[in-house]
Amino acid sequence: MVIRMEHEELMIAAWQARESAYAPYSRFAVGAAVMTDDGQIFTGCNVENLSYGLTMCAERVAIGVAVATGARNFRTIAVVADTEVPISPCGACRQVMAEFAVPRVILANRSERLEFTLDELLPRAAAGILDREE
Ligand code: THU
Repeated sequence: MVIRMEHEELMIAAWQARESAYAPYSRFAVGAAVMTDDGQIFTGCNVENLSYGLTMCAERVAIGVAVATGARNFRTIAVVADTEVPISPCGACRQVMAEFAVPRVILANRSERLEFTLDELLPRAAAGILDREE
């Protein structure tokens, strides 16, 4: 039950962050909210650039904001967009989630919410790199 309430909070934060999306090129607004182990929430939106490849996805912005304040232990990240089916994070964002071991990922549109473990979204993320353990 506690977890459920947390998810509601995260969703509200992610939808609110989406309002700030800077997406003049794709016109596709995305919001993200990440919750730390101690219950703090940090948010992000996508930030595009005329040089398209410089675009930052909402989830990476949210994680970056959290890390910049010293928060690194995450419980859940939520990503939202007004799509027909719940949005699916790009490979780069999955890798960043893996870097900070975000265990649970919620993907949502206006009517549907899917929950995944990071391992489902990016299996064997760290295996074999510099002998780092998963
Ligand atoms: N985008 C995100 O912010 N997160 C995702 O999970 C998928 C895509 C952004 C990047 C770009 O600004 C726009 O959505 C279209 O790809």
